[in-house]
Amino acid sequence: MAATSLDQIVSLSKRRGFVFPGSEIYGGLANSWDFGPLGAVLKENIRNFWLKRFIYKRQDMVMIDAAIMMNPKVWEASGHVANFNDAMIDCKECKARFRADHLIEEKFPEMKADGLLPKELTAIISEKKIACPRCGAKGKFTEARTFNLLFRTSFGAIEGGESRDIYLRGEIAQAMFVNFKNVLTTTRKRLPFGIASTGKAFRNEITPGNFIFRTLEFDLMEFEYFIREGDWEQYFDFWLKEQQKWLNDLGVDAKKLRVRQHTEDELSHYSKRTVDVEYETPFGWKELFGLAYRTDFDLKNHMEQSGEDLQYTDPDTNEKFIPHVIEPTFGLSRLTLVILLDAYHEEKLDNGEDRIVMKFHPRLAPVQVAILPLSKDERLVKKAQEVYELLNTNLDLRLDFDVTGSIGKRYRRQDEIGTPTCITVDFGTIGDDDKQCKKDHVTVRDRDSLKQEEIPISRLSSLLETRSA
Ligand code: GAP
Repeated sequence: MAATSLDQIVSLSKRRGFVFPGSEIYGGLANSWDFGPLGAVLKENIRNFWLKRFIYKRQDMVMIDAAIMMNPKVWEASGHVANFNDAMIDCKECKARFRADHLIEEKFPEMKADGLLPKELTAIISEKKIACPRCGAKGKFTEARTFNLLFRTSFGAIEGGESRDIYLRGEIAQAMFVNFKNVLTTTRKRLPFGIASTGKAFRNEITPGNFIFRTLEFDLMEFEYFIREGDWEQYFDFWLKEQQKWLNDLGVDAKKLRVRQHTEDELSHYSKRTVDVEYETPFGWKELFGLAYRTDFDLKNHMEQSGEDLQYTDPDTNEKFIPHVIEPTFGLSRLTLVILLDAYHEEKLDNGEDRIVMKFHPRLAPVQVAILPLSKDERLVKKAQEVYELLNTNLDLRLDFDVTGSIGKRYRRQDEIGTPTCITVDFGTIGDDDKQCKKDHVTVRDRDSLKQEEIPISRLSSLLETRSA
């Protein structure tokens, strides 16, 4: 059985070290989360797979790693100061604050309220008599009003002295636009080509929540793919297919994915067409990735506001023009949650026992192979250590070595952290018990089928290489 509630994932994440509540020893900080030892590796595995697929293996893509704090003029030119808004509404009774569109969509999931004007949202909430989800009061909401999502902070270290307001980046994309000329002159790329980046983005969300689904700081991976205007539909379709293919290669259940086109009202201020790839979470169908046709909006505005020439010169014809942009964007923190949700399974075994198993794709699993001596007997531990060293030297895999607890308990732990393969060294391996393994053989246990096979140690490297790809 798959996960039916987010609580199952939150609880497993805490118990096994995927995600912890942020600043927990001080009572936490609302909606802040820390990735633990396994979660941090899982997230980096996803990021590395993305880097390989979309940057390192492509000649038309380069990467930058830009500053989180940028000149505030960037956010004025990009339209985020004026337009990066959500509408909020307060309950006068219990003082709870909500995103007005979410209030409507949660009550009427078939309605799309994102992008409506505050007065339209106020009218719907009053007409539909939507009650406060916190205290149940009806007709007690304030008018909806806009709230800018940019995360404001001050720049300059002099306390009480001069400092200036700046914003933490609300999206990574702007770094790619403001570096367009630098990248073009240093790499001599020709259209079409992309500039990619990954890292943290910050948004003052009105209603963060659903664990790591919507937080104030989160990891993003995105690229701006620069094209000629006339080619935009062709590349829009191309990148949508690539996003879907990639999700398939991550092992995400295709039945839980769908594509939804944004209505005119929903479109961001910079977009002419946007589609979301959505995932069916236990709290409904939700946006996982976005794909937008940003036209020449950003480069044109930055060119006007900065005075820099951000045009592209066609090397064959010398024609000068501002390229258009297709932007595939991948929320890394959100994708990590989806990978956790998708992997989670509760099963009843033939012997009547229940188990929780995380069925991560082997390339994403934080631990790919666990080496387990059957007991703490020194000879078994020594032999298992030899196996560990052999695999660690020959293979580029993430290994675990665990000797604590009964073998059954250790298998359960490896199932819960999603380790695809366990290798057990027993007395047969060291030639001491012919009822167990053959000498110099080990037992290889498959996480999903639970099949156990006896394999000679000499064959382990090639077998594991294939199984973990
Ligand atoms: N540059 C385009 C851009 O930032 P977006 O749709 O606003 O587009 C991109 O955000 C992705 O970031 C989303 O598809 C989602 O996966 C993720 N995302 C957005 N807001 C988030 C939040 N508050 N917490 C976690 N992930 C978020």
